[in-house]
Amino acid sequence: MARERPTIIHLKKVWKVYKMGEVEVPALRGLDLTIKDGEFVAIMGPSGSGKSTAMNMIGCLDIPTEGSIFLDGQDISKLSESDLAQIRGRRIGFIFQQFNLLQTLTALENVMLPMTFQGMPADERIERAEHLLDMVDLEDRMHHKPSELSGGQQQRVAIARSLANDPEVILADEPTGNLDSKTGQIVMDFLRKLNIEEDKTIIMVTHDKDVAHHAQRIEFLKDGVVIRTIKGKKNIPNPLSQGKKVKKMTRKTESPRKTRNRPDNISNNQANKVRSKK
Ligand SMILES: Nc1ncnc2c1ncn2[C@@H]1O[C@H](COP(=O)(O)OP(=O)(O)OP(=O)(O)O)[C@@H](O)[C@H]1O
Ligand SMILES: [Mg+2]
Repeated sequence: MARERPTIIHLKKVWKVYKMGEVEVPALRGLDLTIKDGEFVAIMGPSGSGKSTAMNMIGCLDIPTEGSIFLDGQDISKLSESDLAQIRGRRIGFIFQQFNLLQTLTALENVMLPMTFQGMPADERIERAEHLLDMVDLEDRMHHKPSELSGGQQQRVAIARSLANDPEVILADEPTGNLDSKTGQIVMDFLRKLNIEEDKTIIMVTHDKDVAHHAQRIEFLKDGVVIRTIKGKKNIPNPLSQGKKVKKMTRKTESPRKTRNRPDNISNNQANKVRSKK
């Protein structure tokens, strides 16, 4: 029997009430949700049901009004903004419907940006960003700006960027929402490849039933709570994992995650020197 995976995210009776002057808008009303390490979960539900609000809480972009959120056992629901920013930068990768790439930067520079914030040395940043773009089949578009790329290509840059700091969790809020179905399918193939081959935990919001069935589990939200859970159709074939067009996603460069537990006063540069002396 397969070994039970540990829980990576646990939302416990999470409430989020937005205050609009005198009016209170309860977006989440005691949401309970558990996600196992390495799971691919889709979240569906009508507009205004709290999907993006839940993603913002999981992604350390906001904190709940009440309730707790555990990431890898750590309660993140009461952390300061700077602690949340640290966790967000290292442990969560984001993919948005609008791609959210910086228009003045090339694809390569967009992918390098989150690594800059984590203090990775320039040569490592370039090597890793090139590798990540190669992984999403964009090796020939690295020096293009977003305006020179198609929607599907921009979303693949965003996928590469979400992996910049090798996060455990990828949050995708309607990643195919702005794409035609064929391009959306390619983006989904890459997301599933990340889940299966890189063992990333993926939480994806979508309005599209076919897209949702790429996940192992679909959670339906309504009025800020889960009202139904179903299994996804796991057997959808993924052409990226069918032999022909496989591009190895294994990292050429050292994963930032390996350096995570290093004391803060030792930079990657110093650590590299230490390594090369061995
Ligand atoms: N910053 C905010 N201030 C006030 N109310 C908000 C804010 N963000 C969301 N809301 C409200 O909270 C509720 C849930 O919004 P949310 O964006 O989570 O819905 P959603 O399920 O993602 O919808 P959609 O499918 O349209 O993206 C809505 O009623 C919305 O109007
Ligand atoms: Mg939304």
